[in-house]
Amino acid sequence: MEQFEQFLNANLFHIDSFHPHYNNALNIMLQAKAKRFRPALLLGVVKAYNPLLLDGANHAALAIELLHTYSLIHDDLPAMDDAQLRRGELTLHARYDETTAILAGDALNTEAFRLLSRAPFSDRVRIKLIESLATNGGASGMVLGQAIDCYFENSALKLEDIEFLHINKTAKLIAASLQMGAIIVGKKSLADRVYEFGIDLGLLFQIQDDILDVTQTTQQALKNTNVDDNKNSFVTLLGLDGAHAQADSVAKRVEESLEGFDEDLKSELNPLLLRYINRHKES
Ligand code: IPE
Ligand code: IPE
Ligand code: MG
Ligand code: MG
Ligand code: MG
Repeated sequence: MEQFEQFLNANLFHIDSFHPHYNNALNIMLQAKAKRFRPALLLGVVKAYNPLLLDGANHAALAIELLHTYSLIHDDLPAMDDAQLRRGELTLHARYDETTAILAGDALNTEAFRLLSRAPFSDRVRIKLIESLATNGGASGMVLGQAIDCYFENSALKLEDIEFLHINKTAKLIAASLQMGAIIVGKKSLADRVYEFGIDLGLLFQIQDDILDVTQTTQQALKNTNVDDNKNSFVTLLGLDGAHAQADSVAKRVEESLEGFDEDLKSELNPLLLRYINRHKES
């Protein structure tokens, strides 16, 4: 991931204007401490099938990280989760003001698609990448999930509805990361298979995030924890033990489906999964 970080640093915002903190507001959350889980998934698929395309793939990996980072900046706004800390930094609305945070999110969202439009691939691949990110990160993906998450605060949903919510707000973008890797290496049937796998992986990732909200301190999580009381989280619905059981069962499914992939892909994804598949058991 070192090359990805270099690419990200080389693509930070240096826009010429007389605004006193515009560039800073756009860059802070990108430079802050983050897992880079989605870029790592995309780059893992590309490395497994065509490492020569890795440099170009950084465009797509950064596009996903930009869109994800925008979603976090907006997620933390007072009108949404109202959080003060993100990636170990003061949230943008706390550091500056809400206007700055809203606009920084808007800028990162748009920049993601600008980056894909300029990625060093054929027009066809570029359009497919844009389609995947827009479909999964937008109106029928992450934004839908966030809308349901916020609308149904303080009113309890059924388990299948919470699964729908988690799949949309988190899993689809994780699935798109893998799918975009497969698009770059030109493997259509792989794109569908890794997408399905990514939905399970993303569901697991969000169940774990719900668990860590109650088991980790703010210092450990680098963001505010113990803030999901009024949310439809797996913990509020099932309790901590129930959420653990659910995470274990989805983790098992994820591990089983990984077995069906090519050796090269398995060896790229395995270290990532080892790092994250049991994280709900740590605290
Ligand atoms: C946080 O995502 C929001 C969720 C979808 C659970 P990450 O846990 O990947 O956050 P960063 O990118 O490391 O900050
Ligand atoms: C947010 O879910 C998922 C996004 C689409 C941003 P959460 O609200 O649980 O994420 P955290 O816990 O604040 O990172
Ligand atoms: Mg939220
Ligand atoms: Mg939140
Ligand atoms: Mg959370």
